[in-house]
Amino acid sequence: MKIGIDKIGFYAPHLYVDMNNLAVARNIEPEKFTIGIGQEKMAIAPITQDPVTLAANAAVEIVDDIDKEKIDFVIFGTESGIDNSKSAGVYVHRLLGLNPRARTIELKQACYGATAAIQMAKGHIALNPESRVLVLASDIARYGLNTSGESTQGAGAVAMVMSADPKIMALEDQSSYLTDDVMDFWRPVYSDTAFVDGKFSNEQYILFFQKVWEEYKEKTGFGLADFEAICYHLPYTKMGLKALRTVLEQGTEEDQERLLANYKISTLYNRIVGNIYTGSLYLSLLSLLELKEDLKDGSRIGLFSYGSGAVGEFFTGIMQPNYRAHLHVERHTKVFESRTEVTVPEYEAIFDKTLPVDGSTVELDIHSDPAAICLSGMKDNMRLYINKLNSN
Ligand code: CAA
Repeated sequence: MKIGIDKIGFYAPHLYVDMNNLAVARNIEPEKFTIGIGQEKMAIAPITQDPVTLAANAAVEIVDDIDKEKIDFVIFGTESGIDNSKSAGVYVHRLLGLNPRARTIELKQACYGATAAIQMAKGHIALNPESRVLVLASDIARYGLNTSGESTQGAGAVAMVMSADPKIMALEDQSSYLTDDVMDFWRPVYSDTAFVDGKFSNEQYILFFQKVWEEYKEKTGFGLADFEAICYHLPYTKMGLKALRTVLEQGTEEDQERLLANYKISTLYNRIVGNIYTGSLYLSLLSLLELKEDLKDGSRIGLFSYGSGAVGEFFTGIMQPNYRAHLHVERHTKVFESRTEVTVPEYEAIFDKTLPVDGSTVELDIHSDPAAICLSGMKDNMRLYINKLNSN
């Protein structure tokens, strides 16, 4: 039985800052951000968007009435969750009006969370072939103003409906994975910004890629020639390239050209959104699928997932017949085109805005946020959400 991605949706908040302007404000040469790091625009979440609403906005565009009835498992991958107890997925379950006869959980292992969700969904569907599983990958990446990680922040979410006989991509069974206890990036529960050992995190990312890639080759006998493209977890778009370059010489000149050209296409959305942590790999996949118009049915795509701390996995999928008919290219083009640029001082003010932590009541201005699903306020330590489409 084929199992994989039947639908894929995406959402980024409507605000962004231009990386050239951020560089100037930080007294850094703009080329460091646009070439050295490889980022052009960074999505900024207004106070009315949090990981719950970002995920719900990504899902609302793909979940139809049949999905609402048939989804029996919601798995929310995030490392910027809003509650140490309640799963963010339960809010999304209500906001979308899903069937109550469903399991709903949140998974965490840094940027690997959504990959764990996908593998768990695959197992669930193998046992329950009629099931549809909603996988949500949603994060707001925050390092802090004026920090070395600032240029690698971002916000957004990818939502996927997984099923048997998927219309977009069937996952293959072989994969290779690795765990090692390293402190390259972490966020203690008392901090709303991440701690990172930047250079070490780059090294670990590359090391994990090399190890899982070598093991994958040993298990399968495949090599670079078997791949149309390899998508990477992209904390910034230069990162995957650094890893890819370390194995390129294993391929012919043709393999190298193809993989480099397709790598570039797989980074275009990420360049203008920034790091969305656990959703970044899937945003890269979406970029490849939506922007590479001649990507053929039957192509094998490699996926490298890396979650600091750290867990890495290399797995693969095969593009399904007529998959392009099930993408939402126009809608996503509109999401990007209708965004509003904010100045650096405006971004700083948004970054510093926080929700009450003393139980007081606040009502937020949801009218200045064009998203369908927003955080409308807080009361008694509870977040209040609204779906403008049906006021659920
Ligand atoms: N023109 C062109 N390029 C320039 C330049 C200029 N004027 N000035 C500098 N550069 C280049 C540098 O040569 C360097 O390129 P290489 O990496 O190819 O050598 C690049 O710009 C970055 O320069 P630095 O290494 O000096 O940058 P930095 O010390 O300020 O930090 C960073 C970069 C480590 C990525 C930092 O932004 C950071 O810590 N980010 C957060 C951590 C992160 O994203 N780690 C990635 C792996 S961990 C992971 O993947 C999980 C996750 O999501 C967090």
